Amino acid sequence: MSTPAPIVLIDVVADNIARMQAFAHEHGRQLTPHVKTHKNVHIGKMQLEAGAGGLTAGNLSEAEIFAAAGCADIFLAYPLWAVGTKATRLKRLLQNTRLSVGAESTAAIDRLAEAAGEFTGLLGIVVEIDCGAERSGVPPEEAGRLAAYARDRGLVPLGVFTYPGHGGAVGKPEGAAEDQALALRHAVASLADHGVEAHKVSAGSTPTAQLSTDPVITEIRPGEYVFNDCDNLRIGDCEASDIGLFVASTVVSDQGHEHVILDAGTKALAREGDPDRGYGRVPSCEGRLSRLNEYHGFLRLPDHGVRPGVGQRVAIVPNHVCPIVNSFEELIIANSHGELIDRWPVDARGQLN
Ligand SMILES: Cc1ncc(COP(=O)(O)O)c(C=O)c1O
Repeated sequence: MSTPAPIVLIDVVADNIARMQAFAHEHGRQLTPHVKTHKNVHIGKMQLEAGAGGLTAGNLSEAEIFAAAGCADIFLAYPLWAVGTKATRLKRLLQNTRLSVGAESTAAIDRLAEAAGEFTGLLGIVVEIDCGAERSGVPPEEAGRLAAYARDRGLVPLGVFTYPGHGGAVGKPEGAAEDQALALRHAVASLADHGVEAHKVSAGSTPTAQLSTDPVITEIRPGEYVFNDCDNLRIGDCEASDIGLFVASTVVSDQGHEHVILDAGTKALAREGDPDRGYGRVPSCEGRLSRLNEYHGFLRLPDHGVRPGVGQRVAIVPNHVCPIVNSFEELIIANSHGELIDRWPVDARGQLN
């Protein structure tokens, strides 16, 4: 195996999937995992076979690839602007997949209705609301107006969704989960004021998934939970034994500094982190990636710890796992006993539109 390379511990992944599914089942929620974390059809199928009700995609390409692999129910949780080839592709996808799409403006709803054409009555619309992340999404009290607008355009208003992206820091998930529940309750009331019943009330993110117990919520959409990462470890959202993806890397230089140089830089790990949090960790030597160049990772070592030598391989736990798969063509599938099992393609790699 050449390095850098993403090693997936498939038994850990299966346990992570089973645990989240058990939570969803216990609380009567549909689990609709976000596929952007793995972009891999095998893992998507593992999630569906474990009981996921459908998959969440971040763009049309992901939706197309997972639909072609047999996923019958896809939620494109993104404010899609459906013009040009995207309009054509959306219409094609609608003809063989139960598809719902996020929307947060009347202009985008107009584009979606035009794109769907004679299949308008098949396209589910889920209004995106903002619960504090200040990304996309309207204030909750505006959700009903948009849902009614979608209905008037012949689309099918299914409900509302939100992404509590402000919950990804130490001490933040609980507050973000409360913001999320409150915002979703207001949004559902707003839909009711406009005569629209909310069938889908969808909550997001791995850090808040198991805090999404408010009865208004019908669905959770975590993505990272399949692999987990340093960020999840830091906020106490997982244990070290729940890490399902490592980046194998080789020490390529040791010039006696307080760091050695690894062959994994931003091209492999993306620029996820900052000098305070670091960019990933190597548990075997208690090292921390303190800096990244494109092909060089600066592995800072503790004063009296083990110093991996040139040529030695180490396993990096990425800071944020989601961008990792996009750097590689395939995942090396292994298990936690160190056995190599297979190689799986990153099916939706580089598909950015
Ligand atoms: C709209 C949406 N839903 C769900 C998720 C999954 O959240 P996480 O990556 O924390 O599991 C994301 C992540 O970015 C997202 O943007």
